[in-house]
Amino acid sequence: MAAPAVGPVEDAFRRLFKFYKRRQPPPDLSGVLDFNRLGLNASAAKVLDAKLSISSVSDQDALRAGLQPVGKWKAYGLQGYPGFIFIPNPFLPGCQRHWVRQCLKVYPQKPNVCNLDMHMVSEETADLWGKSRAQLRCKGSGKREPRSLLEKLRWVTVGYHYNWDSKSYSSDHRSLFPTDLAVLSQHVAVACGFSHFKPEAGILNYYQLDSSLGIHVDEAELDHSQPLLSFSFGHSSVFLLGGLKREEAPTPLFMHSGDVLVMSGVSRLLYHAVPRIVPCPEGAALPWCLSPTPPEDPPDTLSIIQPCPEEDWEVCAVYLQGSRINMTIRQVLGPAQLFPTEPGQGAGPWPPPAGV
Ligand code: SIN
Repeated sequence: MAAPAVGPVEDAFRRLFKFYKRRQPPPDLSGVLDFNRLGLNASAAKVLDAKLSISSVSDQDALRAGLQPVGKWKAYGLQGYPGFIFIPNPFLPGCQRHWVRQCLKVYPQKPNVCNLDMHMVSEETADLWGKSRAQLRCKGSGKREPRSLLEKLRWVTVGYHYNWDSKSYSSDHRSLFPTDLAVLSQHVAVACGFSHFKPEAGILNYYQLDSSLGIHVDEAELDHSQPLLSFSFGHSSVFLLGGLKREEAPTPLFMHSGDVLVMSGVSRLLYHAVPRIVPCPEGAALPWCLSPTPPEDPPDTLSIIQPCPEEDWEVCAVYLQGSRINMTIRQVLGPAQLFPTEPGQGAGPWPPPAGV
């Protein structure tokens, strides 16, 4: 007698991932923890206040990076997830625009690497912004319009480039880590108590409304004593924060535009995933925090935030009406640490974002 076909056992994480990814009927999102509306959710009982190191970043340095003074940030932890820190939108009004523009216009430029390089020649992937902006500006609401190259962008790597095949980094596959992003990351890391954090690799993920990011652990970095920082812009997402094993049911939480999430300590190596992008409520094309125009203060020459010209913002705004951008920043090597000589060592699983 033939043995009955046994499918893979569905773990608790996969079950919730499928629940939140489902299209029809759409899932009930009332169980998703919203750090902006703590009174409304059952998981709010698990929320703790997290302590920040307020004097570690001067108000002036924060301002120059487009951030509120650290003393004004809120920061939360979650019971059962030591080292997890959630900072709801610490950016100054208008300043998220700088990062959105960098993610669309600057960081995808060579020598950084993007998903389109995998099947297009370098002339085609050079200047994605220039090749997409006219198409984006004329975009109507028709879903059937062909996607611009920017809308086909799924990931960009900066600094040490993550190799999706070997699931590792290497010393010879590297470009400069963007200075502005290094400053932003260091301020957040220092405020969270990590004064020696060195931003060495960034993976930028670009999501369309139907995209998701599979269940994974970020373990390719060789030093896990430093945090992983995550910055989100545009539409919201459901983020699933799991345990060290996939059998542990994850906690679903919203990430809204501007929110910063820090995975450190025990939480550095937790399973996580993004099953769903959640568009703004009916009527709003963009999250409210992207609407205000930046203050017209006299330019500070030491500011790393460049005012986003209206003609550039027009393109970013159309792009963001159907998208979300996330930047995760990592330190790869510990002090004086070298890469292993054998390729593939120190690697871990890493799925690129799924979706069309
Ligand atoms: C996210 O997009 O919020 C998460 C990205 C990641 O886990 O790398």
